[in-house]
Amino acid sequence: MLVFAIETSCDETSVCIMDKNKHIYSHIVFTQETHKKHGGVVPELASRAHLEILQNITLSALKESRKKISDIDVFAATCGPGLIGPLLIGSTFAKSLAIGANKKFVPINHIESHILSPTYNNLEEYPQVCLLLTGGHTEIYHVKSKKNIVLLGETLDDAVGETFDKVAKLLCLRYPGGPEIEKKALGGNETVYDLPMPLINEDNLDFSFSGLKTAVNHLVKKNNLSTKFIADLSASFQFCVSKILIKKIEKTIKKLSDKSVIVKSLSVVGGVSNNKYICDKIKDAFQNQNINIIHPAKEMRSDNAAMIAWNCLNKNIKSSSDLYFKASPRLSIK
Ligand code: KG4
Ligand code: ZN
Repeated sequence: MLVFAIETSCDETSVCIMDKNKHIYSHIVFTQETHKKHGGVVPELASRAHLEILQNITLSALKESRKKISDIDVFAATCGPGLIGPLLIGSTFAKSLAIGANKKFVPINHIESHILSPTYNNLEEYPQVCLLLTGGHTEIYHVKSKKNIVLLGETLDDAVGETFDKVAKLLCLRYPGGPEIEKKALGGNETVYDLPMPLINEDNLDFSFSGLKTAVNHLVKKNNLSTKFIADLSASFQFCVSKILIKKIEKTIKKLSDKSVIVKSLSVVGGVSNNKYICDKIKDAFQNQNINIIHPAKEMRSDNAAMIAWNCLNKNIKSSSDLYFKASPRLSIK
């Protein structure tokens, strides 16, 4: 079984050819540069960039893998959640290839693919708590098994990655803001600014980050953007984010244990899991609790088509093609 997978939910255009033995024949991730000058993703520009690049990287992937379109058994594409224009471009392209080659089309959920990404490297132990940290989502799940994933809490406003990007913009740093803030924070003192931690004492598993962003905005208005200010604020911001995440993970583990669920592993996935500081803080907080801390491989942390191909290979593929499946910005995990 050979899968050709496409990921276009946001600003990465990515394709991957993978077989059922996990062998990756080609994996191309093209990060769109056009958004840098706008300090965030512009949906219309993302759609145009996907259109421009998708055909080229499809041909490059086939060439690199020495495969023909007729060798592919299944065409898979992200159908949500994400930006509707980009989702329509990737999924329609994959459906067209499937029709042309008379093969199956399989719709894939982007969030489910992030959650399953560590299992590509056999990193799985259940019951699991999964903290999903991306540019568009901040969610906490009880993963009972690969096929039984239950949402427990989510952000009520901004996602963590989005907050990193917005704070970076306020500090006049480049997009994407996460890696920039992480770098600046290395030279800062995390105890200088006492930032708010919304919902931290609430008895629920939801998150809120917009107040944190507003607090940073007030500080930016009152200070010069000196190297020291940027470094200290970046460090204090990261410290605050890690505290919020740790508190919510603790609450989740406690709530599950009250229901006699003893959590065996904690996985942290999505683009923000590239942040070493946050991952180290989470590891320090939970490593002595008999909980295995799991992350996807580096190349599967930010958006990529390998996780889409891998998710597809884990499915019981229906005998009929899902050509009428509609891409949806708010697609939920079934
Ligand atoms: O999972 P992802 O690639 O795309 C979405 O599904 O949204 O996540 C992108 C997000 C961006 O907001 C980016 O700033 C953030 O991940 N990110 C980071 C780091 N690297 C990427 N945030 C914090 N620290 C990082 N090192
Ligand atoms: Zn993503």
